[in-house]
Amino acid sequence: METKGLGHSSFEILRKARELERRGKHIIHLHIGEPDFKTPENIIKAAYTAMEEGFTHYTDPQGILDLREAISKYQKIYREREISPDRIVVTPGAKMMILYSLLVTVNPGDEVIYTDPGYMSYRSHILISGGKPVPWKLSPENGFHHDPDDLKKLITDKTKALILNFPHNPTGVTIDEQTLREILKIARENGLYVISDEIYSRILFNGKHFSALSVEDVDDFLFLIDGFSKTYAMTGWRIGYGIVPEKFVQMVVKLQTNTVSCATSFVQKAAIEAIEGPQESVDTMVNAFERRKNIAVNILREAPEISFVEPVGAFYIFPYVGVDSNEFAHYLLDEFGVAVLPGSYFGDQCKRHIRISFANSEKNIEEGVTRIVEALKKFKNR
Ligand SMILES: Cc1ncc(COP(=O)(O)O)c(C=O)c1O
Repeated sequence: METKGLGHSSFEILRKARELERRGKHIIHLHIGEPDFKTPENIIKAAYTAMEEGFTHYTDPQGILDLREAISKYQKIYREREISPDRIVVTPGAKMMILYSLLVTVNPGDEVIYTDPGYMSYRSHILISGGKPVPWKLSPENGFHHDPDDLKKLITDKTKALILNFPHNPTGVTIDEQTLREILKIARENGLYVISDEIYSRILFNGKHFSALSVEDVDDFLFLIDGFSKTYAMTGWRIGYGIVPEKFVQMVVKLQTNTVSCATSFVQKAAIEAIEGPQESVDTMVNAFERRKNIAVNILREAPEISFVEPVGAFYIFPYVGVDSNEFAHYLLDEFGVAVLPGSYFGDQCKRHIRISFANSEKNIEEGVTRIVEALKKFKNR
């Protein structure tokens, strides 16, 4: 298989940052795509208990029924939908579910629309599934708005699916209810499958998340993707899920059976605790992200050469810096000890943006973002 076209890896910057640290340099990490919080203790205990009780073997490839029932209840609370546990498939991370959704819907040559900028794995997953990636450009001048008119222009008779992600990585914007309804109407009218990646749905600073699952009559074309990585700081546990149109459930289960067999048994038990246990840790984390966002925004506002859209969710900000972001990210790391990701990692359109992550302390965000502003001035005057 040809792997050359598959996504950029954020590990290049990480590798360099580690190398510099090994040589004694202090680095502020603002590139990280995972919460810096510890997984809540009750979740860790639930995993221990499951292991001690011998829950350490293969499970139902679709996911244990208790967890699918808990996920079903979660949809009722957060997405106001009754979903049968039969339509839920538990996977080792949401990412795997995104790939399965494409593998079961896309035939070679089919076009799949995804956003540019956007989460870097989408394009790779489309390529792996044999599809042709079609970028839907979200314009920074238009606040990275998901403009339904722009979407319409991209649809051809080969378009098979559309990937949405909101709150959005890397911009932190979201999709409002009316726009989402319009997008889903377009998808329905054009016979598209929609893969709605809502992994950041609980990390929202303003308003309430309105899910694609809450729209009427979507069940035959919507794959809802969510997981535990971001909400419960569980990235390394590898656990996520999809709510799958009925006719695809067994196909997805077959893919899972023939690849990873199932999500890790005791992690599934811990995921039940994540959903059913206290939720205060989620609120604490989201409040901390919001405070950090405000710190970053206040510093960036003072820098006339930087423009940005204020994020409403997730834990990133994606400012325009007006210079080649790859070169700048390396300069920033080498000369100022701050690691960020170049916008070029998130598509072809935003090569002059950088992604700053809030997965670091308030002190480090303040220091790191101040250094970014200073570095940009020096970079431009070199
Ligand atoms: C938009 C988006 N979707 C999915 C994922 C992957 O989630 P998981 O850890 O559940 O595979 C990420 C991780 O960064 C993400 O940003």
